[in-house]
Amino acid sequence: MPTDLPQPLSILYQDEDLVAINKPSGLLVHRSPIDKHETRFAVQELRNQLGQHVYPLHRLDKPTSGVLVFALSREAASFYGQQFQGHQIKKGQMVQLITSTAGMDPSIYNDPGTFNIQRDHDKSISFGQGPHYCIGVTLVRSQTEVMLKELFKRFPNLSLGDEVVYDYGHHNARRMDVMTVNTNLS
Ligand code: HEM
Repeated sequence: MPTDLPQPLSILYQDEDLVAINKPSGLLVHRSPIDKHETRFAVQELRNQLGQHVYPLHRLDKPTSGVLVFALSREAASFYGQQFQGHQIKKGQMVQLITSTAGMDPSIYNDPGTFNIQRDHDKSISFGQGPHYCIGVTLVRSQTEVMLKELFKRFPNLSLGDEVVYDYGHHNARRMDVMTVNTNLS
């Protein structure tokens, strides 16, 4: 039995339907004949921790660490289970979570398609979450602040030019091919 597993489990996200944990390596998702002597399972540990039943929506192999998502009710388990249906995932197949789409979730952000610099970004996962949280976050935030301040100091009347041309072919990010701006310098 692994004794060095973190206790309690680290909860990355929770709402009324779902809970996502950071599964450590060495923890089985549920009881399994492949490891008969194991006594610790994510399902039981999380159930005890939350004091309620949890329904695993997918599994990760015992040695694999990462995001593990559970439903908190039978109804939520059935709804999210259907989302997986029709999308067959083979054992060993690589699955990539497109975290950038989380920023477009209308249940979290009002009118997500509109650029709104006043938005509350407390729930943003643009820089990741948990143990692999971006170590460059402070650098890139302060660089961006300096860059924007300097840009608008130099071009206070800057405005967007023609329609932005996006590259939708990229696998996990929405990149711009062309963005023209008018400097509006007199
Ligand atoms: C706007 C700019 C940036 C964005 C949106 C961004 C985003 C992210 C995200 C989402 C992750 C987590 C990946 C995962 O969970 O596997 C990550 C990790 C990481 N980022 Fe960034 N990043 C940015 C800039 C930077 C910069 C400037 C640096 C270095 C100077 C940096 C260094 C790293 C490193 C080393 C990790 C891996 C951390 C780990 O695995 O423990 N990033 N970043």
